[in-house]
Amino acid sequence: MTEQFKLVKALVAKSFGQAAMHYDDVAVLQRQTGDELLDRLSLVKLAPKRILDLGAGTGRNLIQLAERYPDAELVAIDIAPAMLKKAKQNFQNAMGFKRWLPKQKKPALLVGDAENLPLDDNSVDLVFANLALQWCDLKISFAEIERILRPDGLLMFTSLGPDTLYELREAWASVDNYPHINIFYDMHDVGEAMVNAKLAEPVLDMDRYVLRYDTAKALMKDLKVLGASNVNKGRRRGLTSRLALKQVADYYEKYRDNKVLPASYEVIFGHAWGPIDSSQTTDKDGTVHIPVSQIKGLGR
Ligand SMILES: C[S@@+](CC[C@H](N)C(=O)[O-])C[C@H]1O[C@@H](n2cnc3c(N)ncnc32)[C@H](O)[C@@H]1O
Repeated sequence: MTEQFKLVKALVAKSFGQAAMHYDDVAVLQRQTGDELLDRLSLVKLAPKRILDLGAGTGRNLIQLAERYPDAELVAIDIAPAMLKKAKQNFQNAMGFKRWLPKQKKPALLVGDAENLPLDDNSVDLVFANLALQWCDLKISFAEIERILRPDGLLMFTSLGPDTLYELREAWASVDNYPHINIFYDMHDVGEAMVNAKLAEPVLDMDRYVLRYDTAKALMKDLKVLGASNVNKGRRRGLTSRLALKQVADYYEKYRDNKVLPASYEVIFGHAWGPIDSSQTTDKDGTVHIPVSQIKGLGR
């Protein structure tokens, strides 16, 4: 992993913490990709006992997962305590009177880092992570997810690819040489990290999303409200001058199309299964022997 990928964790936590209050007002892309990930999840026959929403943010997906799997125990982990506080409020509001029913399980809300998950080995059936892993070291995070997943457990996630916000990146490049937009892993790096972590049967694909804005200023404001700050190591410190912001806005005008400015996102969708159990043995001819006790896992 290059220097560019070394994100400053404290800054991520602070930035998302400050964003918690108004995040839901601007999380348009997050809603779209979260819904798509849930749609994809509905294609898999699964009866998870324990679900982790990793980088749960304000808890929108947590609520949807609770509704879809009412018998499951839910765990939400986020590095920003303020996000979890908001998730708790949102969960209570969404569940209304249902939360008093004896069967309704309250989610466990844990402040924690995807790179050091506060969960036992082999303890989770479904890890759901919508637009959170792009803030993490993927090698370490996937190894952690592999550690906590049960062998027939499933990881479903979205992340951002390097073409994300290329218009804004180019506009900034016309002003100075500092990295103003985070640098994201490409699909090849993501796949390699999954394979290295020994996640089973990894699958990845990519989709492009375009949000539309009246001005570049409005886009930059939304990114700030979302908490999606620039956390590159080599980022420019200190305040950005008005002149620089004007230059960015002027350059961005070259993308104007049908009276609006596009902001492109490259969204990577991925899933994989938990680790292949070491009690499985492979013969020289490649035949895999699976203990009868694990045969339920074949119905994926
Ligand atoms: C873009 S938000 C997505 C939130 C939510 N999943 C959604 O779909 O709205 C990213 C979230 O990941 C959290 N996050 C960032 N780095 C993290 C890490 N290393 N461990 C856990 N959470 C992290 C942030 O605090 C933030 O709440």
